[in-house]
Amino acid sequence: MAHQAYKIAFFRTFTVASLFLVFIAFFLSSNAADKKANQLEDESKQCLRCHGEARYTIVDTTSGDSVKMKMYAELRIDPVLYVKGTHGGFKCTDCHSSDYTTFPHPASVKFETDYTCLDCHGGDEQYASFHFETIEEEYNRSVHADSLGTDFNCWSCHNPHSYKLTGPDELVVNKVAVDNGMCLNCHGNPIKFENLAEKEIPNLINMHDWLPNQALHFKKVRCIDCHAAQNDSLMVAHLIMPSRNAVRKCVECHSTNSILMGSLYKHAVKEKRNELGFYNGVVTNESYIIGANRNYYLNIASILMFGLALLGIAIHTTLRILKSRRNADK
Ligand code: HEC
Ligand code: HEC
Ligand code: HEC
Ligand code: HEC
Ligand code: HEC
Ligand code: HEC
Ligand code: HEC
Repeated sequence: MAHQAYKIAFFRTFTVASLFLVFIAFFLSSNAADKKANQLEDESKQCLRCHGEARYTIVDTTSGDSVKMKMYAELRIDPVLYVKGTHGGFKCTDCHSSDYTTFPHPASVKFETDYTCLDCHGGDEQYASFHFETIEEEYNRSVHADSLGTDFNCWSCHNPHSYKLTGPDELVVNKVAVDNGMCLNCHGNPIKFENLAEKEIPNLINMHDWLPNQALHFKKVRCIDCHAAQNDSLMVAHLIMPSRNAVRKCVECHSTNSILMGSLYKHAVKEKRNELGFYNGVVTNESYIIGANRNYYLNIASILMFGLALLGIAIHTTLRILKSRRNADK
């Protein structure tokens, strides 16, 4: 009896101890995962008390009174998107003047010049695979640089406070949503667009009404797949051309040598070549693009079947002719 009780007690302790170990392991691993993520520094938290909120409070230091003010929508930054971003590990003052730590911000900060991408990434071996210099050359020849000059730059599309590189494993629909979001953030926003160009914002739905099922197309292809000239050395084309040069022919995408293989599906094409004989195997995983998803073996099989059917008809006809001749001879 005593032996039994001892055994139960032992098992209880054993279970509790192992649960405890599992818990510790879980705690440590989740802690390790946390450490990898970017974290806001205290100084940045101070900035975001105003720039990260819809309202901010100012206190009159002499009277002690406080008022709530609205933060201009343009100057608001989403703290969650900020830390998740590619540059989310930076302090605000790594890119902005440290004079911003005083409020009201002194007039001198208005004259600060922004860093450009090339200031940090230019000539850096670590980022050679991105070809920053080539991207800049392509950008300089694009419609935006051409018509908008210095009012437009890399940051106009790459939001400094939320830009996040999409990886090669990202689902195509998500990639399309992110990339089109960069364009629509302005081409779908009359205030932003008209602040830059002295003309009315073109209505995108009307401009693309020749495209059937526009909603589906805009979910499955990117603006840049039709509007930018491809460059073999770049993963993402940056030479946006005047709209008269944009892709309009359906067969450019709806064919076995779909242009999408050299643009939207470039990441995937580079990694795995056509699987299972599908011409555009990588596309098949995520989309059914009429005309683009053909299979080599199915093509051969259908030709064989067609040939066999013809052969069958030929044999049948010959036999009938022979039979009718034989009947006539009788
Ligand atoms: C008490 C609220 C408050 C705090 C704290 C604050 N800001 Fe501001 N910030 C503002 C307001 C309001 C404006 C708009 C008026 C102006 O430009 O001074 C502004 C403007 C700016 C602008 C200029 C925007 C433009 O294009 O003109 C930048 C950049 C900026 N803040 C960065 C920072 C940084 C970096 C910090 C932290 C080191 C910070 N701010 C802290 C309220 C604040
Ligand atoms: C990687 C560099 C970088 C970091 C880090 C950075 N900024 Fe900026 N910020 C910029 C650039 C560049 C601009 C100008 C954007 C433009 O010209 O469109 C800008 C613009 C702003 C503006 C003006 C509004 C706007 O979007 O044009 C505010 C306000 C601002 N930053 C606040 C902050 C705060 C607060 C932080 C920290 C939480 C921060 N920034 C971190 C580069 C940075
Ligand atoms: C103030 C310097 C600075 C500026 C300005 C800057 N970057 Fe970066 N960027 C960095 C650093 C540092 C890293 C590495 C961050 C890390 O690993 O946490 C980085 C990372 C990246 C990466 C990811 C590389 C990878 O392998 O994951 C991309 C892409 C990138 N930056 C693009 C840009 C673009 C586009 C611009 C301009 C719109 C820009 N950067 C402006 C400093 C900068
Ligand atoms: C008209 C909008 C636009 C402008 C302007 C722009 N980019 Fe981009 N850029 C994009 C889009 C869209 C992507 C794809 C983002 C993604 O899916 O990760 C991208 C991706 C990138 C990448 C990552 C490429 C890769 O291999 O995945 C780099 C680096 C980059 N841009 C640098 C720049 C630089 C440098 C400039 C300025 C000379 C610039 N961009 C201007 C829209 C723009
Ligand atoms: C910050 C605002 C902004 C962003 C972001 C932006 N554009 Fe533009 N874009 C403009 C403005 C403004 C014009 C008009 C320039 C002019 O003609 O004066 C323009 C012009 C164009 C044109 C030329 C149309 C014509 O008249 O031939 C095309 C095409 C275009 N953009 C495509 C894109 C694509 C694709 C993206 C995303 C990768 C993008 N834009 C991102 C503001 C923007
Ligand atoms: C399937 C290809 C295709 C896609 C996808 C596409 N466009 Fe277009 N776009 C065109 C063509 C072709 C025209 C020229 C239409 C015309 O001139 O009648 C055009 C016209 C335009 C114009 C010119 C308006 C003007 O003033 O003449 C803009 C701006 C534009 N597109 C932006 C975009 C944006 C932003 C996206 C992504 C949301 C996008 N396009 C997606 C093919 C495309
Ligand atoms: C830039 C590439 C591109 C161009 C140009 C293009 N398409 Fe598409 N099309 C696609 C993609 C991607 C899909 C979505 C496939 C899927 O369902 O995943 C699609 C889907 C379709 C569908 C299926 C719609 C449905 O309801 O299921 C039709 C029909 C179609 N396209 C017709 C056309 C016609 C007609 C044109 C020329 C006027 C055209 N497309 C131009 C890429 C393109």
